Amino acid sequence: MRKTSLNNHLRQSGTRDSLRHLILDIATSTKYVHHALKTGDLGMAGTSNLYGENQLALDVLANEIIKKHLSESYVVGAFASEEETSVVQINHGDQKYCVAFDPLDGSSLADVNQSVGSIFGIFEGNNFFGKTGEDQVASLFVVYGPRTSLVYTTKKGVHEFSLNDLGEFILSKENIRIENDHKIFAPGNLRAVSENRNYANLVEEWSKNGKTLRYSGGMVPDINSILMKGQGVFTYPGHSKYPQGKLRLLFECAPLSLIVNEAGGDCIDQTGNSILKIKIEEIGQTTPIFLGSKNAIATVKKHLNI
Ligand code: AHG
Ligand code: MN
Ligand code: MN
Repeated sequence: MRKTSLNNHLRQSGTRDSLRHLILDIATSTKYVHHALKTGDLGMAGTSNLYGENQLALDVLANEIIKKHLSESYVVGAFASEEETSVVQINHGDQKYCVAFDPLDGSSLADVNQSVGSIFGIFEGNNFFGKTGEDQVASLFVVYGPRTSLVYTTKKGVHEFSLNDLGEFILSKENIRIENDHKIFAPGNLRAVSENRNYANLVEEWSKNGKTLRYSGGMVPDINSILMKGQGVFTYPGHSKYPQGKLRLLFECAPLSLIVNEAGGDCIDQTGNSILKIKIEEIGQTTPIFLGSKNAIATVKKHLNI
């Protein structure tokens, strides 16, 4: 059977050349992150002295790798990274897109050899502010686990690719769908149960109904497991110390919500609004988030009275 590469899949789905190039450049950058996670080394010419010998923390290392590839892609006018304090403008090339990314999601899990990820949201133009998650033209994430896999959407379905030994991303699952009913649940920020009776009741309902806990502590692997199982729910509410939760709209919630929504799931905040309709006002903006199977989100709404 002929194997479909990421490049061919993007071509066949009619993705315009500039966006296809950008997604491929991002995919290339994640191969270096994959390598860095395995070896702690940057492995690319001219930079290993600068960064490799300095023993950078893995999230900083991943940030440097991805920044370099975005700067050299020549279609990016600006980017925002969880590891940068402000939006970085790029003044060369054909500045069609801006990219928001979390270079290493779940970075504390890397030390204990658990799965981690990178997340990317792609917008047109060179400004994120005033836009919403719905304005993304594409989003993707990569899971560095027993396999390294990439899941993307250009709003034409959700598709998974697996990295092979030749460094190719090969199609492994096409048109991924999330069913309405669910068996697994990933309840984040359980600190909130002690002060939020409604959240405690929600978690209790799922436990009593025989749902299976699948929570890794990394949002990327947790969302990926919902996509791969075709069902499930992930929650991360706010609590008194952080009423808006901890997860970042621009780097985590918006890109992952676009994918979940495109696969047929729901994604809401703690007031019941779609995550994809929240206006991006600042770089570090956070939001409580509940996403996954539609019936699970209906149960969330029932318990939280939203
Ligand atoms: P990051 O490593 O990019 O800071 O993100 C970690 C996030 C997310 O992946 C995970 O779901 C959440 O933090 C876990 O939060 P707790 O520390 O509250 O468990
Ligand atoms: Mn993160
Ligand atoms: Mn991170």
